[in-house]
Amino acid sequence: MANLIDGKQVSTAVKEQVRQETEKLAETYGKRPGLAVVIVGNNPASRVYVNNKKKACETVGFQSFEYALPEDTTQEELLELVQTLNADPSVNGILVQLPVPEQIDDKAIINAISSEKDVDAFHPENVGRIMIGDYAFLPCTPAGVMELIDFTGVEISGKKCVVIGRSNIVGKPMAMLLLHRSGTVTICHSRTQDLASVTRQADILVAAVGKANFVTADMVKEGAVVIDVGMNRLENGKLCGDVNFAEVEPKASWITPVPGGVGPMTIAMLMKNTLTAFKKQNGLV
Ligand code: GUN
Repeated sequence: MANLIDGKQVSTAVKEQVRQETEKLAETYGKRPGLAVVIVGNNPASRVYVNNKKKACETVGFQSFEYALPEDTTQEELLELVQTLNADPSVNGILVQLPVPEQIDDKAIINAISSEKDVDAFHPENVGRIMIGDYAFLPCTPAGVMELIDFTGVEISGKKCVVIGRSNIVGKPMAMLLLHRSGTVTICHSRTQDLASVTRQADILVAAVGKANFVTADMVKEGAVVIDVGMNRLENGKLCGDVNFAEVEPKASWITPVPGGVGPMTIAMLMKNTLTAFKKQNGLV
């Protein structure tokens, strides 16, 4: 029987820390961090994420600015908004919810966001900083996973860590953060041969594949820490992770549920990054 890693509990603690620091800053300096969230079009999943980000801003005492643009927004229009937000001193963090409609080149948008306001840590400058371990901002989802691993008390240094998935948002930065903590890291992906033989070696297994119930019991070592980054919507409308929870849970020492595992952490880390951005822009760090 695995211990459950409660992402709600850990994320609440992170947000509470951010809230307390925000209140102190507001008392001392008379201003609060501001996060601008831009959503283009009507993707229902994006709508839910954006609403949750706004709610989290309220919880921690930030100002939030929402820009909901129509599906047919042009790249030029979105770039113009990003430039306006870059220049606005009340906006400390800018987040353009991905994916954007196909007429917009997401790379061009990410490049246009001021690296100092890039609270997603998607800008090439911030990605480069992650590579060399000199972070301004931590990538939100991988940073949230690190908090969850630390919550278990399991030491990362020297351990075999396997990440399934090589996306720019999760897999690659996840591997870097584990490496910075001296894990022995392997990244697996759709072309990996005999995937189960690799994942079975993992003391710490992070699944970021985007396929429901992809990780089965035969892929997991007895006593592993299993972190499920997946958020797959099943036909019946239910959320489901990348890990077959019922099968894997008896084998793992620690496991994250979906929902209530990594998901809430991503937003908590976004709040932390926005606070960092505010402090840096105001010369407080
Ligand atoms: N879409 C899915 N996850 C994310 C995220 O972390 N940030 C942004 N901007 N878009 C996303």
